[in-house]
Amino acid sequence: MEDFKVIKTADGSHSVYVDSLDEHYHSYHGALNEAQHVFINNGIDTVSDKQINVLEVGYGAGLNTLLTFLYAKENECLVNYEAYDTVILPSNILDALNYAELVDAKAEFKTITNSSWNIMCQITPFFSLNKLNEKIQDANLKQSYFDVVYYDAFGPRAQNEMWDKAIFQKLYDSLKTNGCLVTYCAMGQLKRDLKSIGFHVVSLPGPPGKREMTKAIKI
Ligand SMILES: C[S@@+](CC[C@H](N)C(=O)[O-])C[C@H]1O[C@@H](n2cnc3c(N)ncnc32)[C@H](O)[C@@H]1O
Repeated sequence: MEDFKVIKTADGSHSVYVDSLDEHYHSYHGALNEAQHVFINNGIDTVSDKQINVLEVGYGAGLNTLLTFLYAKENECLVNYEAYDTVILPSNILDALNYAELVDAKAEFKTITNSSWNIMCQITPFFSLNKLNEKIQDANLKQSYFDVVYYDAFGPRAQNEMWDKAIFQKLYDSLKTNGCLVTYCAMGQLKRDLKSIGFHVVSLPGPPGKREMTKAIKI
C-alpha cells in the first residue's frame, strides 16, 4: 500500500497524509491558510530587501515554494530559493494536489514541480530554485547568506530529531544579521533553544486552528 494519501483540509486545500508516520504535510485546519500566514505574511513579507535568499527545510509538496514564487512576482522581488528534503513525493500525488487551481497558477506549479533536483534551476528571471535531496543535518549551508528560513519539518511527535538544537545553530549561522526563521511550531523547548543560541524569539498569533507560531530573529 502506498504511504501517501491526498486529503482535503478545512480551507478546501489539499494536504498529504503519511501513513507510516501518522502525520500530515500541512495543518488540517487549512494547508493554504497556514502556509500563507506562517511563511509568507510573517516570513518573506517582513524582509525589506527586494533581493531575497530563502531557505526551506522540508520542500514537501512545494506549497510554500509556489506561494513564494507568486509573492516574488507580485512584489517584484528577486528570489533565490533553496529547499531541502529527504523524500521526493511521487508524481501521482503531486499531480492530484489542488494548490495550482486554488491560486490560479497551474503552469507555474508544474514548472516548479517538474524542475530537477540537485541543480539550480532559473524558473523565471526573478526566481531561481535549488531543490536538494539531502538531509538538512548534512547540508553545507552558506554562512550569513539567507534572509529568511522557512522551518517546515514534521512535528516533534512524528520526527523528534528535526527539533534538535544543533540544527537551529546551523540555521542561525546561515542567516544574515536581522534575518529570521519562521515556523508553525510554538513548543516551549524550541523557544528556549532558539533563545540560548542567540535568536530574539517572538510568539505571534498562529494560523487558523493554532494559537501561536514562532518567529526567531538573528540579532
Ligand atoms: C511538513 S512537510 C513540508 C511541507 C512543505 N513545506 C510544503 O510546502 O508542502 C515536512 C517535510 O520535511 C521533510 N524532511 C524529513 N526529514 C528531513 C530532513 N532531515 N531534512 C530535510 N527535510 C526533511 C519530509 O520529507 C517532508 O517532506
